[in-house]
Amino acid sequence: MLILYVIAFLLLISFIQKNKKFSSKDPPGPLELPIIGSIYKINPKMPHLEMTRLSKVYGKVFKMWFGKNYTIIINDASIYREMYVDKAAMFGDRPNLPSLHLLVPGLRDISLENYDAWKPVREFTSTSLARSRSRTLNGILDYQTNQILNSLKQFSKIREPFSPSFYYQKYTINVILKMAFNDEIPYSESPSEGLMAKIVTPIDQIMNRLAGNSIFDHIYGLGHLYYYITKFRGTEADKIRVELKKYYNDHLSTLDKENPRDILDHLIIGGFDEERVINVSLDLLVAGGETSATTMEWFTIVMVNNPECQEKAADELRKVVGKDNGLVTVSHRQSTPYTNALLRELFRYKTVGPLGPLPRVAREDAVIQDYFIPKGTIILSNIYAIHNDEKHYQSPRQFIPERFLTDQHYEHWLPFSIGARNCLGLSIAVDEIYVLCSNLLLNFKISSANGQKLDETESMK
Ligand code: HEM
Repeated sequence: MLILYVIAFLLLISFIQKNKKFSSKDPPGPLELPIIGSIYKINPKMPHLEMTRLSKVYGKVFKMWFGKNYTIIINDASIYREMYVDKAAMFGDRPNLPSLHLLVPGLRDISLENYDAWKPVREFTSTSLARSRSRTLNGILDYQTNQILNSLKQFSKIREPFSPSFYYQKYTINVILKMAFNDEIPYSESPSEGLMAKIVTPIDQIMNRLAGNSIFDHIYGLGHLYYYITKFRGTEADKIRVELKKYYNDHLSTLDKENPRDILDHLIIGGFDEERVINVSLDLLVAGGETSATTMEWFTIVMVNNPECQEKAADELRKVVGKDNGLVTVSHRQSTPYTNALLRELFRYKTVGPLGPLPRVAREDAVIQDYFIPKGTIILSNIYAIHNDEKHYQSPRQFIPERFLTDQHYEHWLPFSIGARNCLGLSIAVDEIYVLCSNLLLNFKISSANGQKLDETESMK
């Protein structure tokens, strides 16, 4: 009996604590239940849709307790800008969640590192990426695009339907592998062989794990329990790290300080320790592979469902590049306004990281546009809501590339986030997606196996 009283008392305390205000300027939000808060409101497969619906009820900023974590959701571009650009340092931390330590123990990388330690690593890696990009990226993209086109033309010749996802993954991983480690995966390699099995398949599993199990992070005790059990069994990130260590050792033993070959050489020469170099390399692979490949998958689906847009862009590319064996390169971009608009609309219409995809944390108490945000609050940026705001995008659930022909919507187009901690790979992603998607349009007519429209339902894995 006593135990029941104690449990009822603890539930009551939890209920009061979760529903009490920090200040009179707290953002509004749903009723919080004891222990779980308002996590019950969210479908983990499509949290951005429910959060966008809630923003219509509670407004541009609202709060939710995800279990033990107080969280605010930003659904408005001007607030997002104020926090991530004007007050970047104040909102520059990432949350310290157990599931993230499974990916990067100690969070000593770029993506998950706390603001103070993050700054020098980010600055150095940005410079290395920019150098490597200007020296090698165009050549890598042209080569990789030719490789993938040759593979896909085999299917086209025999008119055999196939899923391109596996090829897109290889393409995006190869771009990073080449820039970072001067290596690549042959297009003939199957998912169960070589680097596909050692790197690409584990990345897929990491993304599934992060999407599926991060809920444990928010419930008292479960996050740590889940961490220790998974760590004991061994993680996918550990498997990738074994491969990265081989790259590290090879590079170290053949290093020429005067002639860095790739980003790994740059990081070693920059004086970063082995753990940091390996973690940053892992970041580039995990953050860079899946996001761009998923965008290309959406491109394929959206092109199947919008054949008139597909035809219009293909016409434009044919006129600019010529019909016969031309390859679209980054240098054609300034002559292809419709294709550019189509891809810009793709990033808006199918936002790959609809909630960020990496949360931030408030490093101190702050008041933003009259909302009080206490230190330690987790911040989710609902980019999906911003990209679907009817005030700025007419008929947002329709795919209309023309909307970007006359207006770039700079203020409300944020797929790569903004501010000092925005996407590190923005330019690489934009270039690799332009080159591959344009060449697909130039070389193929993309359609579904049965000629029907494809399902566009979104899901976070
Ligand atoms: C379509 C492709 C991509 C999209 C939509 C995307 C989007 C994003 C977003 C929204 C963030 C969170 C930024 C924030 O917290 O404000 C991010 C972070 C990041 N992205 Fe990307 N990204 C893409 C491709 C890439 C590529 C190709 C790379 C690597 C070459 C990359 C590396 C990173 C890294 C390292 C971070 C963490 C940045 C930091 O904490 O300083 N991303 N990305």
